[in-house]
Amino acid sequence: MEVIIRPNAAAGCILGAKIIAKLVRDKPGCVLGLATGRTPLRLYQELIRQHREEGLDFSRVTTFNLDEYVGLPADHDRSYRYFMRENFFRHINIDQSRTHVPDGTAADLHVECRRYEQLIADAGGIDLQLLGLGRNGHIGFNEPSGSLRSRTWIKILSEQTLRDNSDAFQLPTAMPRHAITMGVGTILDTRRCLLLAFGPAKTRAVERMIEGPLAAICPASALQLHPRATVIVDEASASALQYADHYRWIDANKFAWQRYD
Ligand code: GLP
Repeated sequence: MEVIIRPNAAAGCILGAKIIAKLVRDKPGCVLGLATGRTPLRLYQELIRQHREEGLDFSRVTTFNLDEYVGLPADHDRSYRYFMRENFFRHINIDQSRTHVPDGTAADLHVECRRYEQLIADAGGIDLQLLGLGRNGHIGFNEPSGSLRSRTWIKILSEQTLRDNSDAFQLPTAMPRHAITMGVGTILDTRRCLLLAFGPAKTRAVERMIEGPLAAICPASALQLHPRATVIVDEASASALQYADHYRWIDANKFAWQRYD
């Protein structure tokens, strides 16, 4: 796992955007796995800026989002499909038909999960998966104790996640308790993972993910098995890392070709 510590969330997001922009430039037909949440918003803003000011071209890019709430239609303002459209897709030149988000309103959710896996396979797999981190160590909506080899599936949201995400809903009771999410196995099959986690609320989850044991109780710890996982944290979320100096040392001694900035 490559751990990069940046002074703050803004700097971390700019670096994350650089990594994605480089992939889009090197491989214009790449397949991106995308994430929602507060964390990647600044990263999307930077990609939008690069599109507008530097001509970053998304016309051949295909995307797959990690997850979606069960029961929310695409035009619901709290659905992840809506989030992606408002915060990213409508500001860039992406072909909307190449953007994929699980359908949380599918009549048969199991069929939808299998369809989503097949779509990813048909696209040739995901080149880079962007990830956030739940306070309880979840990635996508893979809550603690779920299988580390899972494929796209239906998950029951934990009470912690309901609390953390409920401010997006006017009434906490209006928040769906179920979601469709790529499985941990789906995420591990991507060619590269880029996880962002900032702020003091993520300190404990960051520590468990990077330095804790590989354990289903912290699904993000499965990234320890990924052959190419980059984790960008800030000083606050990195504050409990025992080996922070080691990560800084590695970062400071990279070859030029290993650096992103
Ligand atoms: C949700 C999403 C995750 C996201 C997490 C953290 O549960 N399903 O993909 O990483 O929230 O969200 P935030 O970035 O808002 O802290």
